[in-house]
Amino acid sequence: MTLFNFSAGPAALPRPVRERLAEALKADAQGTPSVAEISHRGPRFAAIAEELIARLRSLTGVGETQEVLLLHGGANLQFAWLPMNLAAGGTAAYVLTGHWGEKALAEAERAGRPEVVASSKDGGYVDLPALGPLPADCAYLHYTGNETIHGVQYMTPPEVNVPLAADLSSEFLSRPYPYSEIDFAYAGAQKNLGIAGLTVVLVRRDLFERIPDGLPKYLDYRTWASSDSMYNTPCTLAWYVALEVLRWIEQMGGLAVLGERNSARAGCLYAAIDKSDFWSNPVARRCRSVMNVPFFPADERLTMPAVAAAEAAGLMGLKGHRALGGLRASLYNALDDDAVENLIDFLGEFERTRA
Ligand SMILES: Cc1ncc(COP(=O)(O)O)c(C=O)c1O
Repeated sequence: MTLFNFSAGPAALPRPVRERLAEALKADAQGTPSVAEISHRGPRFAAIAEELIARLRSLTGVGETQEVLLLHGGANLQFAWLPMNLAAGGTAAYVLTGHWGEKALAEAERAGRPEVVASSKDGGYVDLPALGPLPADCAYLHYTGNETIHGVQYMTPPEVNVPLAADLSSEFLSRPYPYSEIDFAYAGAQKNLGIAGLTVVLVRRDLFERIPDGLPKYLDYRTWASSDSMYNTPCTLAWYVALEVLRWIEQMGGLAVLGERNSARAGCLYAAIDKSDFWSNPVARRCRSVMNVPFFPADERLTMPAVAAAEAAGLMGLKGHRALGGLRASLYNALDDDAVENLIDFLGEFERTRA
């Protein structure tokens, strides 16, 4: 039976990347060190790092005014690191469209005085909120490009006249995006860029002027910019996998091709859910996530039986996040089209036999 992996992250790798990774780690008779066993300061890894950064730059289209930083700590560390560096003691605006925006806000509250300028929490995070007035001296406006749990996505970034800071964790590299217009963007690699451990930050270099002196060196973005993101030992294997994923994206035809494919297949899944009298998705159509589709059975008690039946049919990773319940299908770049077709068939079958 073919298995399909709908995990929200760590998520499926493209099959050719998995094969390359297996090959890269295979022991040979001579004991040649693998990519995970060499110094990050040596020429072999330097070539990987150089190509990785060059490919990230060309795929995102960010120019020389932006730094590409390869960090540790996931998006969660950026929730704290960003306000410590760019809004220390001052104000920043936060937009809440789901769980992750709330977590980002909670960390910002420890570093400065963030203000929530828009929130769709009262409605249950099923739509994008209208932006209220921004505070004076607002360092940036933070938004979550795609709320991975609630399945709410900004199709285009919010329009404001202050710097934009975007958590793009679960939509990074899933479609063409105006990365060069985002002043600060960050994403963990474990959805569309490979394996957990690596966090990408794209940041406008002139924002560094706002960084207060006296921060721990590790938590000052300038430390990483001036050390080619090698202030300490990088997660070398995650960098290697990211490079292989970027090569694969190019072979697939680039972000425009992936973006069209992703939106077409999410559209098919939403259409099947909307047509059903049993399955539902509560999110407003204008902001339904192309990457993460939460959905619910009419009878909540059938959630776990549906997850189990899906697994028995080879559809893995569909259990919804504990914060929201229900089921969730994550449709990242690496997922095969067949996976979505199989899921739609399964949903119809489950409705016929169990509803
Ligand atoms: C939108 C979003 N932000 C933040 C996170 C947290 O990421 P990490 O585990 O890399 O800290 C996630 C994880 O799923 C996410 O989807």
